[in-house]
Amino acid sequence: MPAMVVVGAHWGDEGKGKVVDMLARDARMVVRYSGGNNAGHTVINSFGEFKLHLIPSGIFYPETTSILGNGMVINPATLINEMDDLARRGINIKNRLFISDRAHLVMPYHTLLEGLEEEYLGGAAIGTTRNGIGPAFADKIARLGIRTGDLLDKKAFLERLRLVLALKNAIITKVYDARPLSLHEIYDQYCRYADRLLPFIRDTVSMLLDALQKGDNILLEGAQGTLLDPDFGTYPYVTSSSPMAGNAALGAGISPSRITANIGVFKAYCTRVGAGPFPTELKDQTGEAIRERAHEYGTTTGRARRCGWFDAVAARFTTRLNGFNGAVVTRLDVLDVLPTLKICTGYRLNGKMIDYFPGSVDILSKCEPVYEELPGWQTSTRDIRSYARLPANARKYLSRLEKLIGCKIKIISVGPSREQTIMRGNVW
Ligand code: GDP
Ligand code: IMO
Ligand code: MG
Repeated sequence: MPAMVVVGAHWGDEGKGKVVDMLARDARMVVRYSGGNNAGHTVINSFGEFKLHLIPSGIFYPETTSILGNGMVINPATLINEMDDLARRGINIKNRLFISDRAHLVMPYHTLLEGLEEEYLGGAAIGTTRNGIGPAFADKIARLGIRTGDLLDKKAFLERLRLVLALKNAIITKVYDARPLSLHEIYDQYCRYADRLLPFIRDTVSMLLDALQKGDNILLEGAQGTLLDPDFGTYPYVTSSSPMAGNAALGAGISPSRITANIGVFKAYCTRVGAGPFPTELKDQTGEAIRERAHEYGTTTGRARRCGWFDAVAARFTTRLNGFNGAVVTRLDVLDVLPTLKICTGYRLNGKMIDYFPGSVDILSKCEPVYEELPGWQTSTRDIRSYARLPANARKYLSRLEKLIGCKIKIISVGPSREQTIMRGNVW
């Protein structure tokens, strides 16, 4: 049976949490395959409203196992808080949540060094979530990382930490002239985390492979969005692990050939949080009105999200790159009040039209969006549950998006809660 991947198709916060919570009903396992607690996935269902940063959005189904995959970096303090919060609110995580022994840990020096680096960059700062995600992934690749599985042997963990911390403290003191971190404080703190987390740490790869062999459905939950991908996003204004479908198999530990459904999640307009070019950004009253109506403030940092029109040039690019065979459009209801809508169908660069998404941020920042205007529908879509019942102008808007991005829109979301959804056939 298939594995399905759910990928952010713009700059993150497209509503992946809501979509995964909904689709997980038919999944035996849900795996987060990338990122860390830079992600903030909102889920609203009969249990209440949840902001998940690490735990997969499939955790609400008793029959579904949730896995923090090997492709993640995990801040144990955040994870324990999230586990406690769910337990307090009546969501049982015992025997339902597992952590890959190959996932890397976010350590206190990662957070500290990221803050120092962002300060050093000043006006050129990336505007990261300052959760130490970049430094943790950098250490993974530099072979200086510490993995959750390393917590299983405390003596070996101490020696590994001693080695890595000596190097980190040299950078902290000699490069940044800041105060070094204490080996024993970190060691004691992480031993306490280990005591809490050990029952959840597993070889999750064999769990997944066994499930696939049995014919179970696996849902792979993406974090961030394709335009934040370190290779294909607006580098250097990107995150540090690949949010894309191509990384889902690697970050979970399954074969890419198992992924048969590949779903891109788009908002009906665009947002971005943090620095970096954003061609369709609206710095006017319309942008402000969208932000207030949609409450576009970061789930993780509370920062105001930059808002703009739907960028179909970027959307076509991410659709082709990921190879989406289905799209979800969320937050259609946010546009309910607008008299006219714009879709960016091309960029003007030095007076000439281009229809591709440039690889360089210097070039992208020189691109002016070229818009097509469509009439709004100016009526509420929040209670509509079938495509046929959507106002004609809403259907026109969606079918234009479908044509421009080159992918069938299989799900439309008209509100934040699980049931505020329009399905157009099966997605698995
Ligand atoms: P994620 O990071 O992709 O999971 O998205 P976030 O949770 O960070 O941000 C999406 C926001 O949109 C959340 O506040 C959701 O509750 C909300 N949301 C999701 N779908 C819809 C929708 O169709 N309509 C409205 N109004 N809000 C939605
Ligand atoms: P979800 O999963 C939106 C952005 C940050 C910053 C850049 C790098 O909720 O969609 P990082 O802390 O990752 O090194 O920051 O990436 N960013 C996100 N923006 N949604 C996210 O996750 C994001 N995760 C990181 O704002 O611009
Ligand atoms: Mg988010």
